[in-house]
Amino acid sequence: MNDVAHVVLKPVEDGEENPYLLGVYAPVVDEISADDLEVIGSIPADLNGVYVRNGPNRRFPATGRHHWFDGDGMVHAVHFENGRARYANRWVRTEAFEAESRAGRGLWTGVMEDPKGNPFGNGHGLGLKDSANTDVTFFAGRLLASWYLCGTPRALDPLSLATLGPETFLGTLTGDFMAHPKVDEATGELFWFDYGPEPPYLRYGVVGADGRVAHTTHVDLPGPRLPHDMAITENHAILMDLPLIQDQEARRQGRYKLHFERSLPSRFAVLPRYGDGSRVRWFEAAPGYIYHVVNSWEEDGEIVLDVCRVKDPQHQPRISHPLARMLAYLRLDAQLWRYRFDLTTGRTVEGPRDEDNTEFPSIDSRMVGRRNRFAYNVHIAREDTLLFDGIVRYDLHTGERQDHRFGAGRWGSEAPFAPRDGGTGEDDGYLVSFVTDERENRSEVVVLHAADLAAGPVCRILLPVRVPVGFHATWVRADQLGGRG
Ligand SMILES: [Fe+2]
Repeated sequence: MNDVAHVVLKPVEDGEENPYLLGVYAPVVDEISADDLEVIGSIPADLNGVYVRNGPNRRFPATGRHHWFDGDGMVHAVHFENGRARYANRWVRTEAFEAESRAGRGLWTGVMEDPKGNPFGNGHGLGLKDSANTDVTFFAGRLLASWYLCGTPRALDPLSLATLGPETFLGTLTGDFMAHPKVDEATGELFWFDYGPEPPYLRYGVVGADGRVAHTTHVDLPGPRLPHDMAITENHAILMDLPLIQDQEARRQGRYKLHFERSLPSRFAVLPRYGDGSRVRWFEAAPGYIYHVVNSWEEDGEIVLDVCRVKDPQHQPRISHPLARMLAYLRLDAQLWRYRFDLTTGRTVEGPRDEDNTEFPSIDSRMVGRRNRFAYNVHIAREDTLLFDGIVRYDLHTGERQDHRFGAGRWGSEAPFAPRDGGTGEDDGYLVSFVTDERENRSEVVVLHAADLAAGPVCRILLPVRVPVGFHATWVRADQLGGRG
């Protein structure tokens, strides 16, 4: 525990004292562009590309209780070019954001309130605001801002951050789209799923290298589930049926409540990339929940799947607070975990690769679906709200780990791997993270050597503003920008 009180949790009556609206979480009100940034150290000339991070940043207060996940999507980006850097932040212009902007006030309630009366929701009839606030994925020259409850992906220009509009993949996307699609950079394909509260509960699809949806199929589930992520290998896609399920009684009463069913196994659907749902092979494992996949690949007749596994997703509230349940659910407690699915015997072998609480994993994006050696996770702070106090580098071959801590009262973001220009080897590059200092109320960009976290920052780029603590980030290499970098 550090000694700086970043939020004060005290009994209150309404959302205005919600810790996820205060301090390092407080939404910012301005969209800015800044290119005259103070640098401590020097920005490597061989670090060229864009670091982009999404996160919730509500523009207008809503009636009722606020959940951290309710905020409007806002992307924060740093563009690195020949030893210089510039920063910009922009809201994602979703239909809901535009409607509230026209009205000049909040029109949607959040996930902790009854959505009845909200203007519109997503394709599943879920009346919540599709905020596109969760992840940002680079595909076919565009950034796709996405939402964890499944909505319409929004295409953004990776340099200007302007919202280009709903991404329909040349008019071929039907239904909704989850937060964490997977891109195979070797083939140019994108893999996604869509889930909802009514049958079919899970739909899987592929966007081909021509930018059009090339395949969709249903994957049968015994009921509605809340899958958050998926995996691909060179030949397969892997989807999940995990026993964190919606409480059906609460749902009938119009409330949204989750229940961890400890008597049910975790189940993993393995199907060929272009396979029909009838070709799924199910593998069973111990109950748990998985937010994020590290990577997956095929090896000697097995599928290896590395994830951050939550052993017990239903934390009991440990403090007295009107928002105690939300705070408990947002206390992420995960371990690096490996599954091996034997394609011959159908057996699963599973176990931890580390005991520590790390999450928001990233790898070299060129290794997605192929055997990777390194993973870079954030370290979860022992705090009452979700905060990242460092980065952990895992060598999955040797089992070794390295750590970097941001320092007292300094909280980081997901830190994707950014390959060095001309780099050789999987680990030859940098990690980039926003770090927000709660005492100074401003943020900086920290660049680390991916292979040597202990050496400390290569440089720190001081920003004139605070970047609120947020969700997922990605790195777009200059070569992916097609000469626009
Ligand atoms: Fe996520």
